[in-house]
Amino acid sequence: MALLDKTFYIETFGCQMNVHDSEKVIGTLVHEGYRQVETEIEAALILYNTCSIRDKAEQKVFNRLNDYKALHKKGKRFAVLGCVAQQEGEKIFERAPYVSLVSGSASYRKLPEMLAQLEAGEERITGLDDRQTDETFETEFTARSNRHRGYITIIEGCDKFCAYCVVPYTRGKERSRTSHSVLAEARRMADAGYTDIQLLGQNVNSYKDPSGKMSFAELLAAVGQVAGIRRVRFTTSHPRDFTRDIVEAIDAQPTLCDHVHLPVQSGSSHVLKRMQREYTREWYLERIAWIQAARRPISLTTDIIVGFPGETDEDFEQTITLLAQVQYDAVFAFKYSPRPNTPAISMEDSIPEEIKTQRLQILLDRQREIQRKNYCRHIGEIVEVMVEGHNTARGQVFGRSSQNKVVNFTVDAPILPAPGNYLNVRITQAFPNSLLGEAVVSGREAAQMHLSIQDASIEISIV
Ligand code: SAH
Ligand code: SF4
Ligand code: F3S
Repeated sequence: MALLDKTFYIETFGCQMNVHDSEKVIGTLVHEGYRQVETEIEAALILYNTCSIRDKAEQKVFNRLNDYKALHKKGKRFAVLGCVAQQEGEKIFERAPYVSLVSGSASYRKLPEMLAQLEAGEERITGLDDRQTDETFETEFTARSNRHRGYITIIEGCDKFCAYCVVPYTRGKERSRTSHSVLAEARRMADAGYTDIQLLGQNVNSYKDPSGKMSFAELLAAVGQVAGIRRVRFTTSHPRDFTRDIVEAIDAQPTLCDHVHLPVQSGSSHVLKRMQREYTREWYLERIAWIQAARRPISLTTDIIVGFPGETDEDFEQTITLLAQVQYDAVFAFKYSPRPNTPAISMEDSIPEEIKTQRLQILLDRQREIQRKNYCRHIGEIVEVMVEGHNTARGQVFGRSSQNKVVNFTVDAPILPAPGNYLNVRITQAFPNSLLGEAVVSGREAAQMHLSIQDASIEISIV
């Protein structure tokens, strides 16, 4: 069945890398003459960018595809992209025969060819990678959905093979872009008015410049020096590749944000060993000590898995003591979820669901108290906030600090500042997940500010 017209609808799940991949896929489609529409009903081509990190991801995808069955009768075509596409491969055609295209992220470079096949009426088009490719998905046609803050992927894939994780199987091997290409993209973004750049990678600090010119810390500093860029973030850092020069770069370059996300997964060296994380609690805490010794206060956040096979009460207690020791500003905690193809799926001593739930609750309660105290320390401080939008009902503006904390604030001005403005805000109140304050704006600043009465607009700009 050939395509009825060149309209498409895309739905995206998963991490920031997937969100950004979708921006690049959209840009590529638009460049190939397609037009994005807001609903499945209006679209001739429906793309579904999937995530497989936890739970019964594949089942959810098949359930959703089942919903699409009826639409197929109306002549629509379907593409499954992302991590479930790579994981399930051609099985998707068997269980959902109305799908025409299945592609993992490591094959997106071939999208224009795959689209041509689709337009020619081919029924089973695949872009599947078995950890062979050295290619990265680079395109000038990225449809970024925010006009001030944007992602740049600097490294794709993962070679770490943690025992619980699907990513090495779904995203292919680790491959980096050249520092030249990353910096060229950062400059293009700055020229288009972006001020906030987030460098992305499954393990962003495992970056290895194929041209051998720059280390990760040097690339960070160089992006931070691009004229017009005011904020640079990077995520996710892996403790194994976290070097001291990253902290030195943050200290030296004010545009590098005061925030490091450093997933620990467990506070117990015994569990870390079973997880194949290849570091111990002590080794991790040494990196934390470097970060905490920086000249600027750097906010720390982490990911934790509770209920990994064999995790004893004592092991879990060590995760709780680690939280107390590090005093994170945010923790993303998950119950261990067995995943296909991973070694942990066949490990003994699995933890009953109710124990996982209990441990997760204990952890979240403890962490909430830590955050309550951490956030209170900001009361009275003046922090710089980049405006993201307005809460018109409350007459408030919201945005984020360099530490990535959400700040809601009032502005004593007839019109609220538009998204993308940077304002100094005096913090008056604190909650476990956000700060409240009032803008400190002089009359002159207010006059220079780009003002708007609209809420944060979602506009697409191709950079
Ligand atoms: N590369 C990053 C993490 C990427 S995956 C790192 O190694 O730190 C994002 C998070 O999902 C992980 O940090 C982990 O906490 C969680 N996760 C991954 N696989 C999981 C699984 N099978 N069950 C529960 N959580 C999982
Ligand atoms: Fe998954 Fe580990 Fe790779 Fe992170 S480092 S993506 S947890 S395998
Ligand atoms: Fe999900 Fe794949 Fe990202 S499994 S978290 S979309 S790397």
